Amino acid sequence: MKQEKVIILGAGGQIGTELTMELRKIYGHSQVIATDIRDASDEVKNSGPFEIVDVMDTAKLNELMKLYKVTQVYHLVALLSATAEKNPKFGWDLNMGSLFSVMDLCLENGVSKLFWPSSIAVFGPTTPKANVPQHTVVEPTTVYGVSKYAGELWCDYYFRKKGLDVRSIRYPGLIGYKSIPGGGTTDYAVDIFYEAKKHQKYSCFLEADTRLPMMYMTDAIHATLQLMDAPADQLSIRTAYNINGLDFTPAELAAAIKKHIPSFEISYAPDFRQQIANSWPGSINGDLAAKDWGWKPAFNLEAMVSEMLENTKVPILTA
Ligand code: SER
Repeated sequence: MKQEKVIILGAGGQIGTELTMELRKIYGHSQVIATDIRDASDEVKNSGPFEIVDVMDTAKLNELMKLYKVTQVYHLVALLSATAEKNPKFGWDLNMGSLFSVMDLCLENGVSKLFWPSSIAVFGPTTPKANVPQHTVVEPTTVYGVSKYAGELWCDYYFRKKGLDVRSIRYPGLIGYKSIPGGGTTDYAVDIFYEAKKHQKYSCFLEADTRLPMMYMTDAIHATLQLMDAPADQLSIRTAYNINGLDFTPAELAAAIKKHIPSFEISYAPDFRQQIANSWPGSINGDLAAKDWGWKPAFNLEAMVSEMLENTKVPILTA
């Protein structure tokens, strides 16, 4: 087993919940310190060290990093797209401020690797809509997208100027059954499974034909671990890697669910999140991630839907 001490900031969130458990399998349960500003799942809390910490509390974070002699950091804390639009200043302060302090703490504490997630939200209305290449027009129109793109550039800067081995991925919308997303524009693609199983119907906050890049959580976790494991000299990107996964519209997802639950019906009531979704591309080209560190997604739409329907914990009502 590798001798690393890993700290996860935001371990109670959508990615953190699953990533913590995978990292504990790899490095040993006591070697992976889960932290969050609030409670995390019982599984996360009971399977290894867990600490409550606000990522903006630099002094406390520094203390923890020293106490545990941390060698790797996963900084997953962020305000997602929809929530950040409601509170732009706080979204910027949290997303950017925490990245700065975590990068500086990594340097101060001799951390060997930092993972920080970026997002397809870095793209904007002037980006091509389909099969978006790694290098393209990037003019985000959401606070979240602006903070993620600025963050990517700062990651690259810290790598070049200060030698910090920071690695990042532009995650698409992530779909999993172990944790619920909060405040994102792609959250409908998780909510729909709960409603399909509970009520066999779902009112979607995006229009039927809104195509967005998505990914099953198992693939996203795999990508993250694969990138973090890759030899540093193989990585040509120090902003954030595009990765390809699924892409579908709410209507296509509903049709795939209907194959399992024939009575399922979707309706549409677009809200402010439609505008955010409209500014994003529909599909992503991940060729460079494939070339540099062997990225390849395993889940297609059908496989993802089957796993979600099987595992989402809600009893199916029988009429
Ligand atoms: N899932 C995120 C959101 O919708 C995109 O990174 O905000």
